[in-house]
Amino acid sequence: MDMNDIIVKKRDGGKLSEEEIRYFVSEYTAGNIPDYQASALLMAIFFRKMDEEETFLLTDAMRTSGDVVDLSEIKGIKVDKHSTGGVGDKVTLIVGPLAAAAGVPIAKMSGRGLGFTGGTIDKLESIPGFKTTLEPEEFHKQVADIGIAVIGQSGHIAPADKKLYALRDVTGTIANLSLISSSIMSKKLAAGSDAIVLDVKCGNGAFMETQEAAEELATMMCKIGNAAGKRTVAVITDMNEPLGRAVGNSLEVFEAYDTLKGIGPKDITELSLHIAGIMIYLGGKAESPEEGSVKAKEVMESGAGLAKFREMVLRQGGTLDMFDYHDSSNSIPVSDLQEDIVADRDGYVTSIAAQTIGLCSQNTGAGRKVKEDDIDPFAGILLFKKVGDEVKKGEKLATFYSSEKEKLDEAIEEAGGRENGAEGTAFVIKDEKPEKPNLIKNTIGI
Ligand code: URA
Repeated sequence: MDMNDIIVKKRDGGKLSEEEIRYFVSEYTAGNIPDYQASALLMAIFFRKMDEEETFLLTDAMRTSGDVVDLSEIKGIKVDKHSTGGVGDKVTLIVGPLAAAAGVPIAKMSGRGLGFTGGTIDKLESIPGFKTTLEPEEFHKQVADIGIAVIGQSGHIAPADKKLYALRDVTGTIANLSLISSSIMSKKLAAGSDAIVLDVKCGNGAFMETQEAAEELATMMCKIGNAAGKRTVAVITDMNEPLGRAVGNSLEVFEAYDTLKGIGPKDITELSLHIAGIMIYLGGKAESPEEGSVKAKEVMESGAGLAKFREMVLRQGGTLDMFDYHDSSNSIPVSDLQEDIVADRDGYVTSIAAQTIGLCSQNTGAGRKVKEDDIDPFAGILLFKKVGDEVKKGEKLATFYSSEKEKLDEAIEEAGGRENGAEGTAFVIKDEKPEKPNLIKNTIGI
C-alpha cells in the first residue's frame, strides 16, 4: 500500500477503504509514515471530510492501536462519563461518587488540563497524597470493593490518537467532525466501560461555539458508541460562562465537595443531577433518566455521595484532613497572593467570558502553558457574581489567587485589568438584566 496514493485519493474527494484507514493508523503509530505525509492526509480529511463509515473505521483503528481495557470481571454495568472540556467543569468529581453511591460501578480514566480547560486528574492531584496511577489489578479491586476509582489515562490507551492529536494541534486540523469524534471515542471505547455519557459543551469556552455544531458532534459520537455496542448518550450544555464559582484545581475540588454536601452552586448542582441521573439509568439502577436524577438527589441529600467521595480519596492514598478542616471552619486552602476584580459601574453582569477566565486561571498557575509546566494546586479564581446578577460600582466580582506576583499580574491583565465591566473585559456589565441561556440545551440518544 502506498501512502501517497491514499493522500491523493482523499485530496480528490474519494472514500478511503478499511484497508487504507487501518494501514495509515497502524503504520503512522509505528513510526513508518513521516509526519509530513500524515499532515497532508489530515488536511485532505479536514477539507474533503469523511463519511460515517470512514469515521467508524478510523475510530476503531485508533481504539485498537494500544491496550483495550477489559472490565468484564467487575460486576454490573460500568458507566463512563466524558466532557469535551470546559472552564470550572468539576462535574466528574460529583457525578462519579453520586452514581457509585446509587450502585453504578465507576471505573474511570480521566485526563489532564488542556490549554484553558481544566482536567480531572490535575484537580484530584491537588488532594495531598492522592494517587492517580494504579496498577490494573488495584484499579479493578478498588472498583469491586468500593464501587469507584478515578485514575489518569494510561499512555497505552489509543496511542494512535496521542500521536495524531499532537500533529493536529500544530497543523490546523483539530476542528473537523470526524477527527474530533474519532479521537474522543477511540479513547472512550478502549477504556472498557459498557455505557458512556458525553457532556458536549457549546459556546465561547468550548471547541464547538454553536449549539448546532455541538449537536452534530454529539450525534456522530453517539452513533460511533452505539455502533460499537456501548449505549451512548450526549448532553449538550452551555459553556458561555464558567460552571459554578470556582476555577482552579483545589478550589474546584472544594466546590465539588460542597456540591456533594448539597450546598453547591445552582448550575453545577443542576448539571450534576442531570448527568448522574443518566448514568444511573444507563447503569440499570433506574427506569428512566428522570428517576435516575431523583436517586442522585437522594444520595446527595442522604450524604451517601459525599461518603463515597471520601472513601475514594482515602482508598487512593489521599488525606481527608483538609476536608475535615473545611467542614469545621468553612475555609479552603488558597495560594498566598490574592487580588480582587471589581465592577467599574452599576448594572447587571451580562457575560463572563469563559475562555478568558480559563486563560486567567491558567495564568495564575492553575494550568499549564507548556506540557512541562508544574501546576500550582491552590491557584485559580473564585467568582462572586454570575451572569444575571446585579452589581454596584466597586463591588467584588472575583478574587484571583496565585503564589507568584508576576503570574497574578498577568492573570489580571488577561481579565482586562482590576476594574471590569466594559466590553472586552472578562465581566461585561450593562444596564439591562440579560436573558440567561439554558444550561442544559439538549439530550441526544435517550
Ligand atoms: N478532545 C479530544 O480528545 N480530541 C479532540 O480531537 C478534541 C477534544
